[in-house]
Amino acid sequence: MQRIVVLTGAGISQESGLQTFRGPDGLWNNEHIEDICTPEGFRRDPLRVDRFYNNLRAGLTAVQPNAAHLALAGLEQAARDGRWQGHLTIITQNIDDLHERAGSHDVIHMHGELLRLRCTGCGATPAWHGDCFPDTPCPVCHAPTLRPDIVWFGEMPYHMDTITQRLAACDLFVAIGTSGVVYPAAGFVDSVADHADTMLFNLEARSGPSPFDQTILGPATHTVPAWTQALLAQ
Ligand code: APR
Repeated sequence: MQRIVVLTGAGISQESGLQTFRGPDGLWNNEHIEDICTPEGFRRDPLRVDRFYNNLRAGLTAVQPNAAHLALAGLEQAARDGRWQGHLTIITQNIDDLHERAGSHDVIHMHGELLRLRCTGCGATPAWHGDCFPDTPCPVCHAPTLRPDIVWFGEMPYHMDTITQRLAACDLFVAIGTSGVVYPAAGFVDSVADHADTMLFNLEARSGPSPFDQTILGPATHTVPAWTQALLAQ
């Protein structure tokens, strides 16, 4: 039984039309991370932060999963119906819902999800598809204490216990479309190096020595389906 853990980043959703964070058209080229993606930034100007995530959330309705998302969902489906003797876990840094819309079920959103809010009053995490503003009442406690359910810099990523277990048990770790600059995700490859093979799928090679055994360059919609088809043909 092959146990694969895939870590995805913004690059897997780029060909669906969602902006990445860094690179030529990156979201962080036009916004300061400390204003948008930190608890302090939210405290300083909650309306600005709410508007940023409202725009991203609205943008989801205009995009579809791409061949890379679908290839990973197909691999999970093949495991479910016995065409592949393996187990696939997707750990995603992405806050979009494209893995789920592609059909993946075992998806761990370590940085939270755009389509969910969190009430800092009662802790409720309601699914949310519309806009949220500083005075939007929590549907549970009715207080105006909702925030995006996104893990900001300086906050602990979600599901780290499960992530640690899955990484410890895998025999193949695959990173797709991530710049590898944000921890703890950027350190996953090092944490599995003693017991798993590692593969990096990216548009371009990273500078400096690579911690990955293998690097496959090219757009994810080409390289990821080719990889999963080869796996299923084995
Ligand atoms: N196919 C494959 N890789 C791609 C593609 C593509 N079509 N397009 C872009 N990439 C690669 C880029 O080369 C880059 O290495 O995807 C990566 C995107 O990097 P980032 O924009 O930094 O996104 P990510 O790594 O997910 O960022 C990590 O940073 O700001 C935080 O919380 C945010 O989750 C995010 C985290």
